[in-house]
Amino acid sequence: MIKVILEGKHTNTYFDEYYRIEDLTSSVTLIKLKQANILVDTGSLTYREQILKTLQENNIYPKDINYIFNTHFHLDHVLNNSVFFNAKQVSAHAIFDLKTGKCDIYSNINLLNEHIPSEIKFFPTPGHFKDHKSVLYKYNNINYVIAGDIVREDIIRNKGFSANGVSQQFYDSMKLIFKKADVIIPGHGRIIKGKLFNELHSIVINDFPLIHGLKS
Ligand SMILES: [Fe+2]
Repeated sequence: MIKVILEGKHTNTYFDEYYRIEDLTSSVTLIKLKQANILVDTGSLTYREQILKTLQENNIYPKDINYIFNTHFHLDHVLNNSVFFNAKQVSAHAIFDLKTGKCDIYSNINLLNEHIPSEIKFFPTPGHFKDHKSVLYKYNNINYVIAGDIVREDIIRNKGFSANGVSQQFYDSMKLIFKKADVIIPGHGRIIKGKLFNELHSIVINDFPLIHGLKS
């Protein structure tokens, strides 16, 4: 089972020399396997109570979370990690056991994938952050990708400013996610599926490289 516990927020206000993101949190997604409960990203402190309440409504308590996958280590994605004190935290190339303090660091992502539940694939999607990864999970024959900050609807629609700009690497990661996914759960904003998926995919393939001067 897969369920979005919290939809990620990201509201931008633009000033002359900077922009402010207010109401900022990543999405928090629960994947319930037979042998493990997994959270992908844990959101901001300001949403902690809401996240815990929604988990409780799903009969999940902090002690019940076995793994946390972090797409990357920006604060809006990790600030509630330590609440889930029984979890192994998977990020970049490492698995950090929050309970024992043991951290296993693997030389590559394939090795790491041998040490996580086999239903989950953690794959590199660089461009927003060096070690940015996304999570692929197939459920009921639907490929879900939890995409962190590589897929943002406002950026695809050319309305969201990205402090890092839009690099070829970012674009290539975005295309890879659209290729692997039937449904995309972004770090910020609504779930991308059905008609919305097709609409955004078309912008990504046709318009986006022209607007940003990238190789398609
Ligand atoms: Fe984010």
